Amino acid sequence: MTPAIKGIEAPEAAIRRFAELVRSGAVDEPAGEPRLGIDLGTANIVVSVVDAANRPVAGDWAHSTVVRDGVVVDWAGATSAVRRLTHAVESRLGHRFASASVSVPPGISDGDTRVFRNVAGAAGLDVDEVVDEPVAAARALGISDGCVIDIGHGTTGVSVLSGGRTVLSVDEATGGHHMSLVLAGAYRIEYEAAEAMKKDPARRDDVVGVIRPTLEKMASIAADALAGIEVDLVYLVGGSSSFPNAPDVFAGRLGRPVVRPAEPLFVTPLGIPMRVVGDD
Ligand SMILES: Nc1ncnc2c1ncn2[C@@H]1O[C@H](COP(=O)(O)OP(=O)(O)OP(=O)(O)O)[C@@H](O)[C@H]1O
Ligand SMILES: [Mg+2]
Repeated sequence: MTPAIKGIEAPEAAIRRFAELVRSGAVDEPAGEPRLGIDLGTANIVVSVVDAANRPVAGDWAHSTVVRDGVVVDWAGATSAVRRLTHAVESRLGHRFASASVSVPPGISDGDTRVFRNVAGAAGLDVDEVVDEPVAAARALGISDGCVIDIGHGTTGVSVLSGGRTVLSVDEATGGHHMSLVLAGAYRIEYEAAEAMKKDPARRDDVVGVIRPTLEKMASIAADALAGIEVDLVYLVGGSSSFPNAPDVFAGRLGRPVVRPAEPLFVTPLGIPMRVVGDD
């Protein structure tokens, strides 16, 4: 087990618990009114439920092909997946949700933001809040300032936060998808086999060397985005930061300390329904 990271032990424990709830389908007893969050990603749709104390109490996920380049490309698929996942957590909790918070990639247009909202609406949910993905990640990490780098399936997002808001955001098209393409080419295997190989801990030694240039490319996107900007600590999140060497590759390129919590794929989804003191 990776040791807890100094300074974010409590958030890390909550992130780990949320990952367990999603994988097992278990629920924890909510204290007060539960809140629902929806993350429509390029590879995964994740729904998250936290209670009034921001503790994770339930979650579910599904593989997704409904978003590409930060845009919803499969409206019907997105809507039915959100409806199905919401029903799953509702029946486990014995609670019906009238509304949810939804995350959006940073820096997308108002029109594209509206589409993310409308997916929730079409799934029968009012929208409580539209949350920038890095803002959601910061909430789950218990921080309001610093840099969040999110390496998902489609893109590398680099965001600087101040006072809980995004003040700079760069999103470029290099993500886990590109790692899988490189692996498929190197081993002359189908894309889906490469995707599975990439996530298989037993194949780590065959994978890390091959995907390292892609990880370096992501780190150089982050270095360019952060050139001349003062940030002390960098948080690395998103499924593609799961590789053991990811924090070191980024720290080397950025010349700054890099923190990656356990279960980095679940950080942003968990933060979506969270409320911070001073909100409302
Ligand atoms: N254990 C793992 N090791 C390596 N890669 C992983 C692991 N688990 C997930 N991934 C990769 O992480 C990516 C999915 O991460 P995530 O759910 O954060 O992306 P997303 O939110 O769907 O995409 P985006 O943010 O680009 O829209 C996929 O490329 C997946 O293969
Ligand atoms: Mg994502």
